[in-house]
Amino acid sequence: MILSIESSCDDSSLAITDIETNELIYHKKISQEIQHSFYGGVVPELAARLHVEALPKILEECKEYFPKLKAIAVTNAPGLSVTLTEGVTMAKALAISLNLPLIAVNHLKGHIYSLFIEKDEVLPMTVLLVSGGHTQIIEANSLNDMKVIASTMDDSFGESFDKVSKMLGLGYPGGPVVQEYALKGDVNRFDLPIPLSQSSKIEFSYSGLKNAVRMQIEKLENQEGGIKEQDKYDLCASFQKTAVLHIMQKLKKLFKQKTPKNFAIVGGASANIHLRAQLEELCKKSNTTLYLSELKYCADNAAMIGRVAVEQYKQKDFITIQNIDVQSRIK
Ligand code: KG4
Ligand code: ZN
Repeated sequence: MILSIESSCDDSSLAITDIETNELIYHKKISQEIQHSFYGGVVPELAARLHVEALPKILEECKEYFPKLKAIAVTNAPGLSVTLTEGVTMAKALAISLNLPLIAVNHLKGHIYSLFIEKDEVLPMTVLLVSGGHTQIIEANSLNDMKVIASTMDDSFGESFDKVSKMLGLGYPGGPVVQEYALKGDVNRFDLPIPLSQSSKIEFSYSGLKNAVRMQIEKLENQEGGIKEQDKYDLCASFQKTAVLHIMQKLKKLFKQKTPKNFAIVGGASANIHLRAQLEELCKKSNTTLYLSELKYCADNAAMIGRVAVEQYKQKDFITIQNIDVQSRIK
């Protein structure tokens, strides 16, 4: 079995995965959403302190599996360096004290392998990764052969939901609440600009759309009686429609150039029901098989890190405790 640790942002999570069968033997996650909600986003120092409390608490529950462990795996990049450090420090201590090899896992590969938790790997595949930190299209040929073919020039898809939510005073994380508000709103009330709609390049941008929402909020706040609940519903609906439309326009371009046989959407924001529905339609029309992670594995978790670690273990892709380092960005 492999013990895996995830602490790249605001989720403290540990998992134990069976190397032979991919079975998830143990999985637990303690989320810090409530603590960060007050600030409208993740506060790195606070997140790190909360990991210091949560990780050993979860580890306590895993002790019974220690004799069966063959390796310790940990997310070491990308993410917030102060929070990654907490997971990596615990992994090093475990590797030394239990005399086990250490496996360094890339968080983004983890999101891709969230598709394969307790399942066999299906690659090659074209993947749309949408999270709080990333908006990327990746050609995933194999674990060791992945190429980013498109990314965002500024904010990410999930981040734009967080920022809209913060501007409307709806708390963090923004994705679920904006999606909820959008259900009660009129998608056509506000005419927001679709980012890069005139550009033939396949790349993303969300800062312009975010600013358009900001300007709209300022207008609504200046109306008689200020901004109303229905205004918020309508603005969330119009924003979500436009944010998803931007992705869909670029994906249609990509599918036109080369229709993928297998396509997947992963990452925390892949839980968005509007985005999922639009992608289902596109894939159906294109005869592409669509893979989605189970909703419980979309956001950050250690089960997906453990699933990657199983493959790395089989390749003997270990790292020494001297060489493992945290990286906030991947070059
Ligand atoms: O993958 P994740 O848990 O953490 C990162 O690696 O960033 O993704 C979290 C992001 C947040 O920005 C959150 O607002 C967004 O995913 N998110 C959503 C939805 N659920 C979560 N965005 C849009 N719609 C959702 N339903
Ligand atoms: Zn993530």
